[in-house]
Formats: sequence, structure tokens, C-alpha cells
Amino acid sequence: MKVLVCGGAGYIGSHTVYELIERGHDVVVFDSLVKGHKAAVHKDAKLYIGDLRDREAIYRVFKENNIDAVIDFAAFSLVGESCNKPLTYFDNNVYGTLRLLEAMNRADVKKIVFSSTAATYGEPKNIPIVESDPTEPINPYGETKLTVEKMLKWSDKAYGIKYVALRYFNAAGAHTSGEIGEDHSPESHLIPIILQTAAGVRDHISIFGDDYHTEDGTCVRDYIHVTDLADAHIKALEKLNRDNTSATYNLGNGKGFSVKEIVEMAKQVTGKPIKVLTESRRPGDPPTLIASSQRAIDELGWQPRFNTPEQIIATAWKWHSTHPNGYNDK
Ligand code: NAD
Ligand code: UFG
Repeated sequence: MKVLVCGGAGYIGSHTVYELIERGHDVVVFDSLVKGHKAAVHKDAKLYIGDLRDREAIYRVFKENNIDAVIDFAAFSLVGESCNKPLTYFDNNVYGTLRLLEAMNRADVKKIVFSSTAATYGEPKNIPIVESDPTEPINPYGETKLTVEKMLKWSDKAYGIKYVALRYFNAAGAHTSGEIGEDHSPESHLIPIILQTAAGVRDHISIFGDDYHTEDGTCVRDYIHVTDLADAHIKALEKLNRDNTSATYNLGNGKGFSVKEIVEMAKQVTGKPIKVLTESRRPGDPPTLIASSQRAIDELGWQPRFNTPEQIIATAWKWHSTHPNGYNDK
């Protein structure tokens, strides 16, 4: 298949591009590089640098390449920032994918896999979360992703564009080769911050709140390896080819770990001391997010291979310990 990967220079996108190429697919990457890294793009992928909101730039990619299907990772995804700049988030995340869908329709490309998020659920009423649970985002970021999901639903009805929306829980880890990994600027995710502390790039990690209604008072999350996410995207493309029907899936390991537990595991994996301070809660953090991925297991035949946080942290450590300043290209 010839697959267009929007946001393929970013963290999850670059890992998916590696996986697609390893499985013999042709890949075209479209990325503004506003957050991503040229060095993260596999050498066998064709790279277009452009912004999805630029109608002609994205249409040109379809005109110049015989694209079979699209995977869309391109978005801003900092929850806190989205609360301060909601219009920036709606502009990039909603308008960007709107332009992409327009170009797909114009080019008669009718299959898309979309990066959605656990943030579409807001404060869950049931754990583990299933896809039919209420979607009530508590921040603009989650709202933009839910808006795109709705746009996809109506684009399916009107234009026959078939989609798979993948609601990831907490993506973590790195390619086992250590060649590519997570490098966000600013970094806000827990595991990279912990490992940058272990690598001596940061002085400490701040735990945002230890007074939650959880076993040790810190937030509980479901960590899923980035290569397992990449695999799910390819399985989603295969499903679209197989039955040409739209669907939505959670992707997680189905087990929750607290912030304190993750810090302890990182100490074990790295063998390094990690200084921890406790601060007040970060706005917009639900206490516990754990996925039921049963639907993805049943319908996609997906099965995560990195089942424990230790395994996930070990791959991330291989990247952070050898790239303490990330791609170092900014
Ligand atoms: P990332 O920032 O590393 O990657 C996003 C990429 O999209 C970047 O390379 C960026 O330059 C590009 N981009 C952004 N806006 C663009 C635009 N308008 N036009 C062209 N390119 C653009 O993010 P990530 O962590 O890899 O996340 C990928 C996707 O997965 C995002 O949509 C995110 O919301 C979603 N997601 C991430 C997580 C997580 O834990 N990291 C969890 C759930 C969902
Ligand atoms: N945390 C800290 N200190 C830090 C960073 C994070 O205590 O320095 C805590 C957070 O408060 C949270 C947990 O660690 O309780 C995980 O935080 P992350 O920022 O790593 O991840 P989030 O759970 O906030 O969000 C991530 C993605 C979202 C996605 C969500 C789904 O960034 O896109 O997972 O679970 F929606």
C-alpha cells in the first residue's frame, strides 16, 4: 500500500512510518516540522514539508502520489496549553484535518486512520473505559479530537470516507533499535521527564499531586508502547481494506500504574537515582485512566507485545540515555 502519514515526523508518527516500511509499504510523510524532527523520518519515506491547513499543499501530495490510505497524527497535543489557547488548538487540530479530508475527497482517497485520545472521555465514570462510555472532554485538546471524530462520522455518511479512530491512552517507549524516540519541546510527558532526570538533563521530577483518590494518592495511567500503537495503525488499515467499515477503538494495556510506581520502576530499570518533589495538582488531570482494548483485540486482532511498564521504560531508556538532548536539531 502507498500510505500518506500526516505528522510522520512526530513521536508516534515516526514509529509508525518505521513499522510501515519494515512491512514493505510505501510511505509519504507530510509534516510541518513545527513539532516533529526531520531526523525522525525514515530514510526510505518521501518527505513533504507543509502545513495541513494549506489546502493546495496537501492536495499536491495526492496529485503527485498514488495514495491508497492516510494516517493522520498531525495535531497539537498539550492538554495544559490547550486550556490557555483553545482557538490555536481548534485551528490546528480541527481545521487541519478538515483540509485533509477535503483533499482526500477531491483526490478520491477514502480510507483514513485517525489519532484520537483517551482525553475524549474526560472524567470517566467506569474503569476500565469502553468505547461506548460517554465522551465529555474536560479540556479543549480532547474536545478538538472529539470534534474531528464527529467530522469523520459525517464525512463517512456524505462522502463514503471510511475511518478508524484510535483512542490511545498514554503512549510511551521507543523503537527497540534506539534510533528514534520521544523528543517533544517542551516535554510534558511523565516517562521522558523521569528518564531525563535519570540521565542528568533535569535536576528532578515533580509529581503533580499526591492527594488523588487512588491507592498512593498519585494519578494512575495505562501506558502503551509506541510500537504497539504503530502495529494497531497498520491493523486498522488492514481492517479498512478488509471490510471497508468505520470504527473506533481504545488502545491501552488495560492495567493502571501510579506516578509513584512509574518513578520506582524507572529507578530499577536505569539503576540511577531520581530526585522527586511533590507539587500541587496539574489542572485537567483525571485521577485514573485505564482502557479496555477488548474491541481492538477482537476486531483488529491486535495484541500489545510490551505488556509491562518496565519493558516500556527500558526501550525509552535506550533512547534517552543515548540521546539526552533528543534529536538536537532545533
Ligand atoms: P508529536 O507532536 O510528536 O507529533 C505530531 C506531528 O504533527 C509533529 O511532527 C508536528 O510537526 C506535526 N504537525 C502538527 N500540526 C501540523 C499541521 N497543521 N500540519 C502538518 N504537520 C503538523 O505528537 P505525538 O505525541 O506523536 O502524537 C501524535 C498524535 O497522537 C497527536 O494527534 C496526538 O494528539 C495523539 N495522541 C498522543 C498521545 C501521547 O501520549 N503522545 C496520546 C493520545 C493521542
Ligand atoms: N505527571 C507528573 N509530573 C510530570 C509529568 C506528568 O506528575 O512532570 C503526571 C501527570 O499529572 C499525570 C501522569 O503523570 O497524572 C501522566 O501525565 P502525562 O503528561 O505523561 O500524560 P497525560 O495522561 O496527561 O496525557 C497523555 C497524552 C494525551 C492523552 C492522554 C490519555 O499526552 O494526549 O495521555 O491518557 F490524551
